[in-house]
Amino acid sequence: MSEVSLTIDGKDVTAEEDMTILGAAQSAGISIPTVCHHDALKPVGSCRLCTVEAEAGGGTSLVAACIHPVSEDLVVTTRSEQIDEIRKVLTEQLLAYAPESGLLQSLAEEYGADKDRFTKEPSFCILCGMCVRYCTEIKQKNAIGFLDRGANREISFVPEIAQRECWDCKECFPLCPTSALQAAFVLMRSLTPLPSSSRPLPGEQEGGPPVAVDGNKELLEATEVSK
Ligand code: SF4
Ligand code: FES
Repeated sequence: MSEVSLTIDGKDVTAEEDMTILGAAQSAGISIPTVCHHDALKPVGSCRLCTVEAEAGGGTSLVAACIHPVSEDLVVTTRSEQIDEIRKVLTEQLLAYAPESGLLQSLAEEYGADKDRFTKEPSFCILCGMCVRYCTEIKQKNAIGFLDRGANREISFVPEIAQRECWDCKECFPLCPTSALQAAFVLMRSLTPLPSSSRPLPGEQEGGPPVAVDGNKELLEATEVSK
């Protein structure tokens, strides 16, 4: 594998030619924030929190570090007024959907985001797709996927597969960047009223449907998953 030389935040970095900017930065000990990235999963570049400036061939562009490949003599800047503003606004938007997310809370502190800028619409899911990709790529079970498009997009478990596979797995839950762990709630809902969901959840009668509770924290406990 050939190596390329680039500069990240003024530091000379050597990276393998198939690396992304994010991978090269991480190998050089330079931190870039991510929301939808996981080292074990194929990058999709959907959240844009990892936006950096990349200068090559006389031009500078904003790119997603998790999907943009390194190249010889690339000059990368990971913090600037423009980058910080982008991360601030993205964090503000995501916080509307997952106000209790510890990751988003700390990003808000880092980039000076107004946690109440946008009207709260807590779906407890920021559609990062990590749970979906984990189930498809690592477990190869396809028990969870996306439904619909645009504003109606949401994750959904396939009940027939989830009933068979998910209770003893739940490995996607700890990947969820929202502390509310929407995947846990959606799994519960998809399994109702199948026999394995007959265990009562907080706030429901035995055999009744699962109910969303504040931040879904009680559902998290009900799934016996530790983060
Ligand atoms: S449930 Fe969590 S991991 Fe799955 S898409 Fe939503 S935010 Fe991402
Ligand atoms: S971490 Fe790069 S786009 Fe989400």
